[in-house]
Parts: sequence; structure tokens; C-alpha cells
Amino acid sequence: MRDRTDSFVPTAEEIQHALADASTGELVFFTRQCLERGAFDHVLAVERAFPQRFTEDAALKLTFAVARFVGGERTEARATVEALVAERPADLNALAVLAEMEARSGERASAVRLFSTLVERYPDYPGAQATLAALLMPGPPYRDVLRAIHAALRPETYLELGVAGGATLALATSARVAVGVDPVPAPLEQPLPVGARIIHETSESFFTTRRREDVFGAHPVELAFIDGLHLFETALRDFIETEHWCAPGGTIILHDCVPLSAVTATRERRTRFWVGDTWKAAWTLARRRPDLRIRTILTPPSGLVVVRRLDPSSRTLEDGFDALVSELRTQGYPLEPGRWPALLNVVPNTPEGLTEALA
Ligand SMILES: C[S@@+](CC[C@H](N)C(=O)[O-])C[C@H]1O[C@@H](n2cnc3c(N)ncnc32)[C@H](O)[C@@H]1O
Repeated sequence: MRDRTDSFVPTAEEIQHALADASTGELVFFTRQCLERGAFDHVLAVERAFPQRFTEDAALKLTFAVARFVGGERTEARATVEALVAERPADLNALAVLAEMEARSGERASAVRLFSTLVERYPDYPGAQATLAALLMPGPPYRDVLRAIHAALRPETYLELGVAGGATLALATSARVAVGVDPVPAPLEQPLPVGARIIHETSESFFTTRRREDVFGAHPVELAFIDGLHLFETALRDFIETEHWCAPGGTIILHDCVPLSAVTATRERRTRFWVGDTWKAAWTLARRRPDLRIRTILTPPSGLVVVRRLDPSSRTLEDGFDALVSELRTQGYPLEPGRWPALLNVVPNTPEGLTEALA
């Protein structure tokens, strides 16, 4: 067992005295408090003070197993939780703890399988989607990848559709003009670069009421990030309009086009983590615009689709747009977690993958 050099735990008598009237629920809450503060040895001491309570209650068994795992008794802890999962198949907490233990033990395939089962049964189980994304898409998160893209391309002009707190607009430090479009004003997460401003409108109104020259002057858009409304017809329309504003050598990046599960990829929002059906926009680009160069970086939580070799004069996607929208509207996401669509040309989330995406 791992030593805590700063370890001090009360005696069993002191714990029994202090927690004499605690219900099982209170003991569970107390041991979770200990774990959240890193005091796994305190949980072990509480178990020694109330051994009977810990053999009778599944939640206490779990917190004890987590404390043992953190303390280094990994094999015993995993065996306890595996037995709990087998005895109590409906216990989502036991499943989540086992999945987490597998992930922390480097058992990737088993962790992916367990987290996939967990999100299938309860997509909003705290942290499950994020951990599954990190397992399936190893490497830096999307904002770090965007930072690296800005550093590689150093765009002079930047357009972002869907800004929220401005964390990604703030990455446009090289841009002389950087414009973010979002109908909902939100407090800024960080200061924006000097050349950046936010226009509070929907992207549709933005493109209807403005000309590129009024916003960017003579310079076409060099880099754009589409991260607005999570419906595919809006994302596709955003792409069409943005491409008209770009130079042929420009780059458009789409967010949220690589879902991890069908339930997070629906038009109607049913989950806390939700990417909507924007994936259909990327699939449409790949199918209908073979002239574009599309590469998809598998960065958590939902990938970045990098589109190059733009054609600002193209009308291909406008033709038959309405028919396409009604044809695709009801389609569900067809792939299992961890299966990637070949048509999006997935590249790894590494410096080499980034170089390939920007080639
Ligand atoms: C996921 S957030 C953007 C996050 C930001 N790009 C980042 O990575 O930090 C999506 C944003 O799109 C905005 N949005 C919704 N509908 C929109 C529309 N029609 N046009 C532009 N933005 C829209 C929402 O208000 C929300 O702030």
C-alpha cells in the first residue's frame, strides 16, 4: 500500500464516537468527501471503525474499493468491484468505478467497452462521455489543436461562427481582423486579442445583412471555425456562406462532426453532452464536394474537420439544398463508439496528423 507521508488518521474509537449516529447514506457521503480531498487513508480508517457496515452496503463497498485502489491495492480493489458489477448489473456506480479503474490501469479496450455500456445506459453519467472521448481520441483537446493550427497558419483574417465565452476566438492572436458571430452574449472567459470583435447575431442574419468587404475589407477570410447551431442544415449553410468569403488557399474547420454515440448526435437535444446532427454537414461535404480536401483530426471531445482547397465560387451545395435537407433530416447516426467514417479521412491527434490535415 502507498504511504502518505503527511498521513494522520483518527483512531477507530474517535471515528466511532464522531460518526456514532451516522446513517449509511451519511457514511457514504462522508467517505466521498474524504476521497474528493485525496484522503484515501481516512476512508480505510472509517472501514476499520465500522467493518460490518462496509460489508452490508454496496455504496460503502465501492468507496472502500476506490480508497484501496488509490492506495495501491489495485488487484484487490478491482476484484471487489468486478464482483459488485456481476452481483448488481443495474448498479451504474459500480460500472463507472470499474470502467475508471480499467482506464487508470491502462486496460484501454476493457475501459472503452465498460464506458460505452455506461453511456448507452445513462449518457449523462458524470464524466463518462469525457473519459470515453479521451480514450477513443487520445491527444490534446480541440482548443489546443486549434491553437496549434493558428500557430501553423498565422491567419491575418479569422471568422468564427459560435463564440460562447470567446475561448477559441481568443486564439486568433495573429489576425489583423478576427470576427466572432454569436446571437447570445456571454461573459468572456479571457480577454480577446486587439483585432477581435463579436457581432451578436445569428450566422444567418450575419451573412444576409453584410458583405465581406464591410467586415474584412479587401482581404478574404484565411481561417474560419464553424461552431454555431448544432443542426446540420445550419452548419452546412454556414460552410456555404463562409466558403464564399474565403480565399481558395483558405481553411475552414468544422467542430462537433465526430460523435461518440448516436444518442448525443440527434437533432433534438436529449443529453447534456450533445453534438447534434452536424456530422451530416461533414458527410455531405465529403460526398458532394470531392474537389475539397477533407481531413478529420480525432481530438476530444468531438473532432475537428479541416477543409482545404476551397472554391469560393462553387454553387454545388446550394443546388438542391432543400431536397437534401429533407432527405437527411430523419437519418440517425449509424456508427458504434470508436468507429470512424472512412469518408472523413481521419488522421491521428498528433503533430504528424496535424501536418497531414493542413497539407
Ligand atoms: C459550442 S458553443 C461555441 C463554443 C466556442 N467556439 C468554443 O469552442 O469555446 C456554440 C455557440 O453557438 C451559438 N449559436 C447558436 N445558434 C447560432 C447561430 N444561429 N449562429 C451563430 N451562433 C449560434 C450559441 O449561442 C453558442 O454560444
